[in-house]
Formats: sequence, C-alpha cells, structure tokens
Amino acid sequence: MPLPFSAPPWRRHRLSCSGCDASVGAGTAEVMARTPASLSGQDEGSFAYLTIKDRIPQILTRAIDTLHRHKSEFFEKHGEKGTEAEKKAISLLSKLRNELQTDKPIIPFVEKFVDTDIWNQYLEYQQSLLNENDGKPRWFYSPWLFVECYMYRRIHEAIIQSPPIDDFDVFKESKDQNFFESQESVIALCTHLQEVVRAIEDLDENQLREEFFRLLQISLWGNKCDLSLSSGETRSQKTNVINSLEELKPLILVNDMERLWLLLNNCKKTREKASITRVVIVLDNSGFELVTDLVLADFLLSSQLATEIHFYGKTIPWFVSDTTIRDFNWLIEQMKMSNHKWMSKCGADWEAYVKTGRWVYRDHIFWTLPHEFCVMSQVAPDLYAELQKAHLILFKGDLNYRKLTGDRKWEFTVPFHQALNGFHPAPLCSIRTLKAELQVGLKPGQAEQYVASEPNWLTTGKYGIFQFDGPL
Ligand code: F6P
Ligand code: MG
Repeated sequence: MPLPFSAPPWRRHRLSCSGCDASVGAGTAEVMARTPASLSGQDEGSFAYLTIKDRIPQILTRAIDTLHRHKSEFFEKHGEKGTEAEKKAISLLSKLRNELQTDKPIIPFVEKFVDTDIWNQYLEYQQSLLNENDGKPRWFYSPWLFVECYMYRRIHEAIIQSPPIDDFDVFKESKDQNFFESQESVIALCTHLQEVVRAIEDLDENQLREEFFRLLQISLWGNKCDLSLSSGETRSQKTNVINSLEELKPLILVNDMERLWLLLNNCKKTREKASITRVVIVLDNSGFELVTDLVLADFLLSSQLATEIHFYGKTIPWFVSDTTIRDFNWLIEQMKMSNHKWMSKCGADWEAYVKTGRWVYRDHIFWTLPHEFCVMSQVAPDLYAELQKAHLILFKGDLNYRKLTGDRKWEFTVPFHQALNGFHPAPLCSIRTLKAELQVGLKPGQAEQYVASEPNWLTTGKYGIFQFDGPL
C-alpha cells in the first residue's frame, strides 16, 4: 500500500491543466491513511455495485441511442463527415460499454484535452494502490467515485474523438426536457419569487428568515430531479413544491439552516458600506434544480443577505444532468423568452445580474476530475484560493457530498468536519438529497431508525440534509 509513505504519481508531477498542481506533502498521505475504505463495486449488492452493473450501462445505451436519433441532423449539418463521426462515436461508446460489462482494465485516455495528463496520472495512482497480483484497476474493483467519473470522462473522449460532432452534448436533450416538463412548478416558483421581491422592503427580520428557509428547502428538494439516478429517464418536478414543504420537513435528517441564516444575517448587519458578501453556489443539475438555485440566488441579492453570487458549473457534460455554461445560458434565455410575465421577468433580471457582474458563472476542470475535495488545495490551488474568498459556499447535490466526504465508508455518527478531512476553504454547507450509501454527522441511533424499516433510505432521494461546517 504505497499511499501513506510515498507521494503517488498524480501528486508528484506538475500538471498540464492550468492552475492544477499535483504535488502534495506527506501530511496529506498520513491523513488519508486514517480514512476508511472507499465505496466500491466490490461490495456485491451495494448501490455502487448496482450502479456499475445496471445504471451505467443503461446511461451508455441511452447516449448511443441519442447519437443514433440525431443521425440526420449530423448529416444535414456536416454531410457524410457527420454520418461518419456519428458512427465513430457510437462505436467508441459501444466499446466502452463492453469494457465495463466484462470488467476489463481501466485504460488511459488518448485524446489530448486540458485534463488528459492529470487523468492519466490519476490512473497511475490508482494502479499504485494495487498489489502486484491485483493487475490493473478495474470497474468493479476500484473505488466507485473514480470509475463513475472515469465513465463520464470516457463519454466525453468518445465525442471529442469524433469531429465534426465533437461539441455534441449527449445529455442536452434530457436536460432540456426536464426543464420543459417542470413548467408549472417553474411558473409557481417565479410567481412566488416576484411577490417576495416586490414586498421585500416591508418584510421584518423574522419574515425574511422564514422566506430564506423556504427557498433553501425548495433548492434542496430540487435536487431530487437528477437524471443519473433514473439512468436519464425524465424526473421533472410536476407539483408545486412550495405547498409540500411542511410535509417534507421531517425528511430533513440534518438541518443546519439556522446556522446559514445567522452567518448571512450577521454579514448583512456588520457589512461596511461598499464591502461585499460573496456566496458561492457549486451547482449540480440543470433543469428544475437550476431554477430553484437561481431563485435562491436572486433572493439572496434582493434581501441583501449577499451582494454577489459566484456559480460553478461543469466544463464537460457530466453525470447526465449537471449544469454546463451552455445549460446555464440556455435556461436564462428560455426564461426570458417565456410568455409568462413572472417567468420572463426572472429571466430578464437574471440576465441583468450576469451582465452587471452581481452573478458570476465560472467553471474549473477540477470539478470533473475524480479527486475528493480534501486534495483540492494541492491539485487545484487556484480554485481553492478562489473558494477561500467566499463568505459561504453552498455545495448542491449528491456527487458533491460524495467528493466532500471522499465517498468513504464512514460511520453515520462521524462529525462532518472530520469527514471533510481538512477541506475547509470557507464556511460551507452541503444541500443534498441522499442518493448514495453515505451519510455522516447523524445523532447516535438516528440511522438505526431507518436501517430497519427502509432498506433503501440512503439512495432514493427521499431524505435530505443541510449540513454546515464552519465557525459557530
Ligand atoms: O450515479 C450515482 C450518483 O452519484 C448517485 O450518487 C446520485 O444519484 C447521482 O449519481 C448524482 O446525484 P446528484 O445529481 O445529486 O449529484
Ligand atoms: Mg448531478
């Protein structure tokens, strides 16, 4: 087990991706040595195992099908070259599906991209963790977080290896569909937001706090709409979630909303004129969830709980429904063009926030690497330094939680602070519905209530958390 004593390859070399550095001191290795094992497909019957065995192949099949259905579009746009490219991408994805289903070794990336070297160094690192007899890292044997991220990066490689369709997003269609199918809820939410904004000057502190909590919870339940859990099948929001919040409250297993309020309200009260309060939102899914996040972000500005919001999205299509810059801009444009008065008002306001710099959208290649966040300060020091400037960071969704906690087999009662394993750039909060067999920071006996009665309580998205780490 070389990790505790020598720096693995991906930590030794400077990386080609700008801002990323893989050199890490021995201290981190010691900390890693104290952490529990990773979730993995080795555990037959586990959610990780079932994801690799069933869900990931289904996602690949849908991606292949999507390419196939766009055949004539590619031909119309690019002629024969388009048809050839479609065939090539399909054959690369079919090969990938076969490698996975037959548990073949994980192979290095070949196509040059900004993160190719760092990915290949990470593969070497995974190799270095194995004994001589273990052979190469494999799908069902290696850490789940690693192989699942690898799968999405391989989808991207298949596409960039297939010009001229090399900017095609195989998940775009389902992301857009999720937005359209959630129209009613989007309208209800925009109408509600506009009512709040119109009355905001008249709200007392208690009313503001209640509204903050309401919009936080809407953003939490918006996270149910991720499309990778359903293997890309539609999971839109059809009912008005605002009316269900009271009913859903008992399903929040860790509720640190009050701490978020105290922090931001304190910033507002103690802020000097012209100084800033920056909230960072590390986005998750596009479609309905993104609307809930933007509504929350709008409220934070309108209520002056924050003065600027920085959003982080994904550089490449990721985990089916994650937000890219294209999804972000597309959604704002759709809102603006809507026939519904309040929906289009939201779209126009949001566009203005972006134009005036009160909302800043950013991406960074680190978010689509397989690394847990505790190594961010070494692997992507520029990103870590940026996050340190935040007054509060909101991490949306399940995958961010897995990376925050290293996707490891923690005891349910281990404190969140400990599971973060040294990742403390600024006060932070995970807002996530549970979709992986992983949860920390529960009270003694709390998990046991569900273990007996609901065997899948950790993975259906039924339960949620607001889990905060920062000064009291
Ligand atoms: O595919 C597995 C998984 O990581 C699950 O843990 C989760 O269902 C999903 O992908 C991602 O969820 P989210 O969009 O909330 O990050
Ligand atoms: Mg997601």
